Amino acid sequence: MTKKQRIYFDNAATTPLSEEVREQMCALMQTCWGNPSSIHAEGRKARALVEQARKTVATCLGASIGEIFFTSGGTESNNMILKNSVRDLGVRRIISSPLEHHSVLHSLQRLEQEGVEVVYLPVDQKGRVDLEDLRRLLAREVRHTLVSLMYVNNEIGNVLDLESVSNLCLECGAFFHSDTVQGLGRYPLNLADLKLNFLSGSAHKFHGPKGVGLVYINSENIIGPFLDGGAQERNMRGSTENVYGIVGLALALQTAVEEMAERRRKIEQVKFHFKKRLLQEFRDVRLEGDEENSHYTILSVSFPPSGKSDLLLMLLDIEGVSASGGSACSSGVEQGSHVLEAIRADEKRKMVRFSFSHYNTVEEVDSTVDILKKILHS
Ligand SMILES: Cc1ncc(COP(=O)(O)O)c(C=O)c1O
Repeated sequence: MTKKQRIYFDNAATTPLSEEVREQMCALMQTCWGNPSSIHAEGRKARALVEQARKTVATCLGASIGEIFFTSGGTESNNMILKNSVRDLGVRRIISSPLEHHSVLHSLQRLEQEGVEVVYLPVDQKGRVDLEDLRRLLAREVRHTLVSLMYVNNEIGNVLDLESVSNLCLECGAFFHSDTVQGLGRYPLNLADLKLNFLSGSAHKFHGPKGVGLVYINSENIIGPFLDGGAQERNMRGSTENVYGIVGLALALQTAVEEMAERRRKIEQVKFHFKKRLLQEFRDVRLEGDEENSHYTILSVSFPPSGKSDLLLMLLDIEGVSASGGSACSSGVEQGSHVLEAIRADEKRKMVRFSFSHYNTVEEVDSTVDILKKILHS
């Protein structure tokens, strides 16, 4: 008997590693194991790969090579920017939102304990921030203010108008950081035009390897290292570079940028079809987040409470469909979502996040809708 193929609709948690990236990384593991800090031939070969990867990433983002640093992922990048901008740039006030990823929110909590003023912008029921609120907050002393707002929300998929926020921050003289982990490789970003100070990214969200990420630090606002140690990353991050990961990240990003339009077209088809079918088949389904500014890879919906919907994620998993209740939670236990709490969503409704990649198909959507009907209507 052939094993039924699973359907993976949890690409906001992580994306499958692309075959091309895996092949390149595996080949390198055999041929290039030098330490990039060594001055002999093995070391120089590894160094050249890291620097080539940096050039690729900088080109993809319209940044200069000196503005890109590799890290262990989105969490480290966000921690580094927030904590070191307080330490090194004299930031005393941070304006953010309650919908940020925990790597931002928990960093902010710590900074608040250390005396930094943290202000959370209000969000409406669709999870939208009002830029007029931000403008009002930036109307007073901003010299020591950092604005930290995520580009794409990982739970409900809301997309921030990055250009307007960066223009506003520039106009008012505040620093601007965006957690672009979910948006990198999905939307064109040209940092030569977009005036933000910091952004963070993570390779495993665009079909690269896990445990490697990047931080963009605009050359006008230098912060120091987050990890003290050796002089790697031009003194910005001690620790021997994750050479395979860095090369994998660069290839994955380059491919994501080159294939962006084609991937987006495919994914939009899948999302559109899924939305249509859900609305046709389930009278009580509700679309969560800001539908008009929704990321094309994320479809967040909720179902009314019932014995079946409460077990929905588990039942979907048993039927071979991987989805999630919001963010991928680090403890492995399903917890309430701080995002839904912040938008005051009806907590009793069962939220399911389906998130897509270009590997998904409309046939998978139809099979999933059939499974949902079996679970919820029987
Ligand atoms: C918006 C956002 N920021 C940060 C992170 C953390 O990235 P990493 O898993 O690379 O630490 C994630 C991962 O889920 C995310 O979705």
